[in-house]
Parts: sequence; structure tokens; C-alpha cells
Amino acid sequence: MNAIDLLKQQHEKVKKVLTKMSEGAPATSAELRDLADELVAHMVIEEHIFYPRVKEIMKDMVEESFEEHAVARFELARLLQATGTEKKTRAMVLKELVEHHVEEEENEMLPKVKKNIPEEELVRLGAKMQAAFERAVEKGFAAFFPTTASPGRYRRHANGGMPMHHAR
Ligand SMILES: [Fe+2]
Ligand SMILES: [Fe+2]
Repeated sequence: MNAIDLLKQQHEKVKKVLTKMSEGAPATSAELRDLADELVAHMVIEEHIFYPRVKEIMKDMVEESFEEHAVARFELARLLQATGTEKKTRAMVLKELVEHHVEEEENEMLPKVKKNIPEEELVRLGAKMQAAFERAVEKGFAAFFPTTASPGRYRRHANGGMPMHHAR
């Protein structure tokens, strides 16, 4: 799958999950952890692989995108710490942030990328990003999310963290 189709597919999934979380029953810890893993992995592959290449053709847009990712991380951290009805409120705010950002990527960035980057390079980038995405999901969002105060209950691996009382 080329880089454009891969990113669009991931956008659809995250938007769908956030819509459900902001409308349905309060999200469980497992659902929140999965969302965080996938959303952060998506941002990581854009920041590390896709944006550096896109920056060569649209610098301002990429800089703006980094800022929007930072804001999304902020609200995601708040969502992960939410209890009760805060979960729906924060999921809705994150959904609005993500929708705005995705709209800019899909309507402004990706069409320009399609025009300026050859298909074979997009296919290569897509494969690299897919592999990096899977690795990032496997590591879990906390590996890329040093500002989250207490990711403990969302950790994918029991020993993923290094709480003080376990430090040797
Ligand atoms: Fe993005
Ligand atoms: Fe994106």
C-alpha cells in the first residue's frame, strides 16, 4: 500500500474509534490504550518518516502539522487520565482536533504529495511506514509519550515501565 493510502486508512480507523468514544458508552482502559497506541504510532511514522520527506515540498504545512500533533498528544494525555463523563468530553475534543488535522492532511498535503512524489517512492515509503507503525504499536504509546504522568494502567507489557519501587 502506498504511503497516502496507508495514512488515510489509519485516519479512518482513529476517527471511527473517537466517534464511538465520544458518543457511546465510556471507553474501557483497553480501548483507550489501543487508541493511544495507534494514534501515537500514526503520529510517530508521520513525524519520523513521512513529514521529513514532505517538508521538501511544503515546509510551512509540515511545521503546522507538528504543532497539531503536539496539541493532539496533550488532549490524548488528558483523555487517558479521564474518569467518568470526562472520558466522553475529552474524546470529543480529541476527535475535533484530529478531524481538523486530518482534513488538512487529506485535502492539502496528500494531493500535493501525490503530485510531487513519484508513485514508486510512495510505495517504498508506505512499506517502511507500515513496518514502523507495527513496531511502534508493539512498543506501546508510552515509549513515545514521556509526558504522560502515569501510563501504568495502560501499559501493554507488565514490565514496560520502570516505577521507582521496581528500579534496581
Ligand atoms: Fe498528522
Ligand atoms: Fe495523519
